[in-house]
Amino acid sequence: MENFTFKNATDIRFGANRIDSELRDAVSQFGQNILLAYGGGSIKKSGLYDRVIKALDGLNVVELSGIEPNPKIESVRDGQQLAKDNDIDVILAVGGGSVIDAVKLIASSKFYASDPWDLVLDSSKRFEMPQVPVVDILTLSATGTEMNAGSVISNPDTNQKLDTFGPNTPAVSFLDPTLTYSVSKWQTAAGAIDIFSHLAEQYFDTAQNNDVKSGMIEGLMRTVIKWAPVALKDPNNYDARANLMWASTLGLNGLVGTGNANEWTVHPIEHELSAYYDITHGVGLGILTPHWMRFALNADTQSLFANFGRHVWQLDGDNATIAQAAIDTTAEWISSLEVPMTLTGVGIENNEHFEAMATSAVSVGHLDHGFVPMAVADVVALYEASI
Ligand code: NZQ
Ligand code: ZN
Repeated sequence: MENFTFKNATDIRFGANRIDSELRDAVSQFGQNILLAYGGGSIKKSGLYDRVIKALDGLNVVELSGIEPNPKIESVRDGQQLAKDNDIDVILAVGGGSVIDAVKLIASSKFYASDPWDLVLDSSKRFEMPQVPVVDILTLSATGTEMNAGSVISNPDTNQKLDTFGPNTPAVSFLDPTLTYSVSKWQTAAGAIDIFSHLAEQYFDTAQNNDVKSGMIEGLMRTVIKWAPVALKDPNNYDARANLMWASTLGLNGLVGTGNANEWTVHPIEHELSAYYDITHGVGLGILTPHWMRFALNADTQSLFANFGRHVWQLDGDNATIAQAAIDTTAEWISSLEVPMTLTGVGIENNEHFEAMATSAVSVGHLDHGFVPMAVADVVALYEASI
């Protein structure tokens, strides 16, 4: 097993209805001036907004609304201004990954004199400045942002969607599965595929003999495979929503990637799709993943794909048969979640940007250090196969 460092200080408050009694203290421990950030209105429809406002009664609350899916740098700029103008002590993010991601960058930007896009292009600057503490209430199980230090921010002017990392994870995360009952089928499926993809990106790695990591990932994959269809059929099933939520958090809080050697592959390739076409992240991953698996299966990787087939999909047989069947079964599971399996299905009907997207993915994602290294031509071929 390789050496690693693991430190994660997020205070997790998991369970139904804890915000009503615990939110006020969780937020006000950091001060009285609060920036409340949320998305396009789902929290107003569900009644969550009213509960939050009630819990924060008497504190100074300034609002940043309308943070969009695939959050744009413009929302971060607005948040930066509000944070400076109101001397914000703590930011409360209420929403999915997009809201929480944007807020993490706003937390740095309060202390930055210039354009926050600079901080995306060079995350190291964020480690040299203070941060506003972030508290979040997660409303969609998918990204793991609730317990990690990453954000993904889009700049439509430059067709870029880039990762940025800060020095800390959220201070407090409220994980209430009942808040995800209202998530649409589309977003539930996309979220489940995103969780599965995070696990796959960390499972398929060249580091050897890390059974702790492999076993955790296989268990989390089986969890997502089992409960995603249940949540689609029965949106108010607490156990389904709870298992997806905790799997989302554990899938990308650093724990299951401990000791890994490679860079991720499918995510940088998908981020280009979202950057150019603003599609739903998890749906893009679902389209690309089976094609990537077919690319990555070779004589050297066959035994790991066979383990994946045996331990995740409970398949029997020789390595070659199981490895192939595991990929087919993965594709069938994604398709069973009622999402498109082709780029055409999400409105991408020609290859005009594939070369530029592939060039960017290889460079930004360091795909030459992937589990199976990829060159620009390989990524173009992957996009072409996905049409
Ligand atoms: O904006 P509102 O009105 O809230 O509606 C949202 C949005 O339209 C809606 N929604 C959220 N919670 C809901 C709900 N609708 C009904 N009921 C609820 N309880 O769902 C839509 C999508 O929300 P979004 O936050 O965009 O989804 P998600 O959580 O999947 O986040 C996706 C973003 O996270 C990035 C993705 O690239 C994408 O930009 N990622 C972030 C990562 C990280 N920080 O570690 C890692 C991931 O790999 C990923 O790249
Ligand atoms: Zn993802």
